[in-house]
Amino acid sequence: MPEESVRPLERGLAVLRALAVAEQGQLRAGDLVRATGLARSTVDRVVATLARIGYVRTRGQQLHLTPRLMELGNAYLAASGLTGEVAARTARLADELDESVSLAVPDGDGVRFVTQAARRRAMSVAFRIGDLLPPERCAPGALFADAWGEEEWAAWHARVAAGPAEEAFPALPPGPAPSAVPDLAARVARAKETGWALDDQLIEPGLIAVAVPVRDGAGRVRYALSAVSHTSRYTAEALAAAVLPRLRMEAERLGGMAGAGTPGASGAEHAVALGASEAEHPVDLADPEPALPAFDPQAAKEELGPGFLQSLARGLAVLRALGEARGDGLPLTALAAATGLPRATARRCLHTLALTGYAAHDGRLFRPLPRILELGHAALSRLTFAELAEPHLRALADRVHQSASVTVLDGTDIRYVARAATVRVMSVHITVGTRFPAYATAMGRVLLAGLPPEERERLLKAAPPRALTPHTVTDPAELARVLDRAAAEDHATADQELEDGLRSVAVPVRDAAGQVVAALNIAQHAGTAPLSGTRDALLPALRATAAAIETDLHTAARFNEVRMS
Ligand code: PHB
Repeated sequence: MPEESVRPLERGLAVLRALAVAEQGQLRAGDLVRATGLARSTVDRVVATLARIGYVRTRGQQLHLTPRLMELGNAYLAASGLTGEVAARTARLADELDESVSLAVPDGDGVRFVTQAARRRAMSVAFRIGDLLPPERCAPGALFADAWGEEEWAAWHARVAAGPAEEAFPALPPGPAPSAVPDLAARVARAKETGWALDDQLIEPGLIAVAVPVRDGAGRVRYALSAVSHTSRYTAEALAAAVLPRLRMEAERLGGMAGAGTPGASGAEHAVALGASEAEHPVDLADPEPALPAFDPQAAKEELGPGFLQSLARGLAVLRALGEARGDGLPLTALAAATGLPRATARRCLHTLALTGYAAHDGRLFRPLPRILELGHAALSRLTFAELAEPHLRALADRVHQSASVTVLDGTDIRYVARAATVRVMSVHITVGTRFPAYATAMGRVLLAGLPPEERERLLKAAPPRALTPHTVTDPAELARVLDRAAAEDHATADQELEDGLRSVAVPVRDAAGQVVAALNIAQHAGTAPLSGTRDALLPALRATAAAIETDLHTAARFNEVRMS
């Protein structure tokens, strides 16, 4: 009996795709009706469900994708064998070559980026994790197409005959397409002969790239490792001569490391059993999944009633659970156990994910496919820390009716990177970029308290504290005690030490490794109430907001570099 597909899951995926291709992931519900062909009432229920899961946020009429959605793409990336070590190696190679370095996987007849260590100079486009390119217009395509069968070549010919690639490949820079489609077959033949592939301005004038294959134990091309530059720095041939020896060496290393991941998806491979050699590789656990607060579908169902599409939530839980797949994949029993779903329910979800191109199976084992990255990953991986923090700051400021800010340490100063202002309590106007001495502010104290002792010492010596108001703590021994207390209590205060009449309470924001990377504060008029009352009133909201920012940061930064400022 043919298996039935889970309609709400299909619809939820369609809505996520529509949001992902919209400019900056923003749409109104009405636009979604047009983009998906779904009824307005269906769109509303799908959106309410996605909002409850935490993948969509509304601001006025606009719908946005949230960084939390990146946990879906992360599931594919974890299963593909990418680890923190692989990302760190590509970043080191980029440093060494002083050029961008990326890894891409085959995805159908496309090329999808899975890591990107950018040294991008202003003059060219920058591709991000999740971006998809047509194989005829990039270096990796010539390496991947070598494994194509007749079916894939036929599909590719049909696609290029149908016209320009821009629509299917939104990552391509706008502008006129090259007059002739590059001869992919000739490029494949050349790459086969030489063992590497060249992109000499196939995407846009000036952009050049050299790619080599990363092969798994069975000799299959698992990734393409590329170095990318610009004609203002190298001719294409000179780039190849400069980077090929190092690229080849690194590809060899990465090939050994990549053995445990599930492969990419090249066309018809979807339902084909994989060779046994992969299973022999030891399982290389990717970075641990960040501990996200558990989503409780039962509670959501009770809260939203019939507006909550439980089968959509369940389908997405199954997709996330595929992130634990390694090697050939996971059996149904493991996926049912991981999600707490009955086997029949999990199987229907997997069937739907396979039909829509997000999962593959060999009859017994299931694994996620790179197409998952089309669900908003590329757009979201461009978010900076400030953009990621901003909605949380706004929510906090609205909740407590006070200004909320996020700062980072910049030398001996704190520097504002995001701010949600309500009433103005400071005589100076604070904008993003404003700096204050760290020692005299609650945020600076939280940031200094998070440093190793020698580093803290060095910074306090570099800018010896001076009195900015009659209340500023300037005595080194007393300041050391203040910072020790901030470290022990995980928050700091400053009471009229930067400016008369102003007090501030701050908490740290940590990366997934536990390092303090930013500080979050609420500032308010000093008034007459004791400081301890202000602090106790504000700390719970501050901590909840810091936790929400951390959840987004850890998800966004798991396989991707999030710029802090
Ligand atoms: C990139 O990593 O941005 C890249 C790689 C290969 C290309 C073009 C761009 O051919």
